[in-house]
Amino acid sequence: MKLWGGRFESGPSEVFERFSGSLDFDRRLAEADIRGSQAFARALERAGILSAGERERIVAAFEELLEESRSEAFFAGAADEDVHTLVIRKLKEKTGELADKIHTGRSRNEQVSLDTRLWLREEIRRDQRLLVELMAALVDLAGRHPDAVIPGYTHLRRAQAVLWPHYLLAYFEMFARDHERLENALRRTNVLPLGSGALAGSAFPLDREAVARELGFASLSRNSMDAAADRDFALDYLYAASCVMLHLSRLSEDWILYSSEEFGWLELSDAVTSGSSLMPQKKNPDSLELIRGKCGRVFGALTSLFLTLKGLPMTYNRDMQEDKEPLFEAADQLAGALEMARVVVESARLLPARPEAAAEESWVVATDLAEALARAGTPFHRAHQIVGALVLDSVRRGKKPADWTGEDLAAFAPEFRADMVRLLRPREGMKTREIPGGTGPEAVRAALEEAARRLERMRA
Ligand code: ARG
Repeated sequence: MKLWGGRFESGPSEVFERFSGSLDFDRRLAEADIRGSQAFARALERAGILSAGERERIVAAFEELLEESRSEAFFAGAADEDVHTLVIRKLKEKTGELADKIHTGRSRNEQVSLDTRLWLREEIRRDQRLLVELMAALVDLAGRHPDAVIPGYTHLRRAQAVLWPHYLLAYFEMFARDHERLENALRRTNVLPLGSGALAGSAFPLDREAVARELGFASLSRNSMDAAADRDFALDYLYAASCVMLHLSRLSEDWILYSSEEFGWLELSDAVTSGSSLMPQKKNPDSLELIRGKCGRVFGALTSLFLTLKGLPMTYNRDMQEDKEPLFEAADQLAGALEMARVVVESARLLPARPEAAAEESWVVATDLAEALARAGTPFHRAHQIVGALVLDSVRRGKKPADWTGEDLAAFAPEFRADMVRLLRPREGMKTREIPGGTGPEAVRAALEEAARRLERMRA
């Protein structure tokens, strides 16, 4: 069955049908298509196109189709152009000629936008739930070692000591921003295009507000041409999804390193690692490598849709059918990666003695010491030079920070006071950073508590 054909003298070539059909992938929109069509049938009744009895028959038939669409048989052997055509054909099989009224004043251009929005809305909500679960796992892991000290890095060189929860909360913040970006994408998605017709607006008195209420849309599209042409909501989603993947890839990279023999401070569970077919000793971080690897597919989806839409003339063009596969692909990869990351985080074990030893044997305390000198009145640049000289001297003589006594320090430079020696322990220096957002133990405790409260709100 075709939804068009009157104007044609002969049918499409088999090659064109194969080339242009989208049922293989847009069948994922079947439920959205049917729900949207039920709402449209009610709108047609209110507009005087369908009688109450007709509307009832159509809505009931759609209800059956909804059930049937959950099984593979619904799609088996279907040669329809797209999911919209398939659904109408099935409706016709159930209700006969009455089905011919369902498309009154409706275009597939608005229908595909409606269906995609309905589908994406649920997908975004699922991503947000997965994100919150991952954030909760990070907070849990932080709570398991609230006092653990690790070296913080810049340029992948030991820089300054931080608390383990402080490090984990950095990722919490990234994911919190991602949650907001998804919320923004949801707001853009949650707009009803129905009533826009093909591009010029419906010629029937549809109560768009009522349809929006019924389908749970927060607002109406304001311009029918924009509604037909717009895929910004999909781009917003793909950008938000890309940001999540970006953050997941950085977490993955960190943990691949931290769980390596070279770092050795994080243990990934057997449940998320794999062995080698040749090397019996191996325990590889494949779960994290795959999260990192799948990034490319999501970034690719964003790029792909950008390129598809670039320079398209107003309004709908068939090119836009190419929006769905990248969207589906990105949504699948994102949900999979979020779920995997949560399991990795939940099952990871910190071996706190190792990172603390790494912090203690390196000069991550150098800044703390220089800042103490500055607090005691030495101009900072001078303090920086003194501590730099102390580090150089220590490196030459193979001395660790803990090897220095208060007297040694005072003998090294008169600016040092004996009590500054305690700052050579990373835990002490950290206490000077009680500024909001800093790694001071009180600041971090407060941040952890606040993170838990924020999670509560996100779950509500
Ligand atoms: N399958 C089409 C798509 O995904 C539906 C809209 C078709 N509209 C049209 N005028 N050919 O975009």
